[in-house]
Amino acid sequence: MKILLLGKNGQVGWELQRSLAPLGPVLALDRHSTDFCGDLSHPERLAQTVRDWRPDVIVNAAAHTAVDKAESEPDLARCLNATAPAALAQAAAQVGAWLVHYSTDYVFNGQGVQPWREGDATGPLSVYGQTKLEGEQAIVASGCKHLIFRTSWVYAARGGNFAKTMLRLAGERERLTVIDDQHGAPTGADLIADVTSHALVIAMTDPAAGLSGTYHLVAAGETSWHGYASHVIAQARQIQPVLALKVTDIAPVPTSAFPTPAKRPLNSRLDTHKLQLAFGLVLPPWQQGVNRMLAEIL
Ligand SMILES: NC(=O)c1ccc[n+]([C@@H]2O[C@H](COP(=O)([O-])OP(=O)(O)OC[C@H]3O[C@@H](n4cnc5c(N)ncnc54)[C@H](OP(=O)(O)O)[C@@H]3O)[C@@H](O)[C@H]2O)c1
Repeated sequence: MKILLLGKNGQVGWELQRSLAPLGPVLALDRHSTDFCGDLSHPERLAQTVRDWRPDVIVNAAAHTAVDKAESEPDLARCLNATAPAALAQAAAQVGAWLVHYSTDYVFNGQGVQPWREGDATGPLSVYGQTKLEGEQAIVASGCKHLIFRTSWVYAARGGNFAKTMLRLAGERERLTVIDDQHGAPTGADLIADVTSHALVIAMTDPAAGLSGTYHLVAAGETSWHGYASHVIAQARQIQPVLALKVTDIAPVPTSAFPTPAKRPLNSRLDTHKLQLAFGLVLPPWQQGVNRMLAEIL
């Protein structure tokens, strides 16, 4: 299985380099790659990469992920999140390749408390959510074989993340204020990458099963950013009792306490039954991956 990976140095892309490796040769690109174009701001050149290298699978882990910045650069966000995936999908259809793509709970309007199911009505609140939705729609419309995984609250041990920010602030301040009215499941990039490889093998081994489609992929359980921060601090104290964390009070506050250019959905819960049933998977509780990440970084 020849695999073309885009966005190789992002949180998910980095983990995919590991999880895809046993499946076959992987051509891993980023926006600076020179032999082949991996730059999403040049959709036509990206499509040419597909036609030249003729992969069996394209995994697109690249995107415009700066949610607030997207509000002031909608054209760039649309190019990266919608036009480029559309070009990839058309090229995938031409060469008969599968396209794996990642999307987000931000395609929903965040109302209610029920976990969103794949078929629920969408209603993005931000440029990021809208352009990611357009990307999904273009892939489906292209007719290529695809796996679109909608995920949320992604973290990785490598690079910056919410847990590291909380730990830094907890070392500097006695009191933290953290949003408690947005609900979702922190999901490790490593879990996303592992599920991707597993699902790909199953989907490609049994084409008659018709597994092409959109799936929700998040860790099990749910929390708020406040619950997430509280867990990180408590777990850090357990792993490293000598850690100098000043914080004594983690106060819950509403989203309105932190105004941002892009509106965030309050309900980021995603129902993963479809994914678990289709691919015979069990998604672990979110705390498991977060604890593992903390053990790695502390
Ligand atoms: N992060 C989340 O919480 C979250 C939540 C839901 C869904 N998702 C989705 O999950 C997927 C992976 O996200 P992630 O968390 O791994 O994001 P990430 O860490 O921000 O990685 C995105 C990657 O895209 C690359 N990129 C940006 N512009 C590019 C361009 N013009 N050409 C090629 N590559 C470009 C970035 O490269 P540079 O480093 O060079 O900028 C980066 O490596 C995305 O589709 C995202 O929408 C993420």
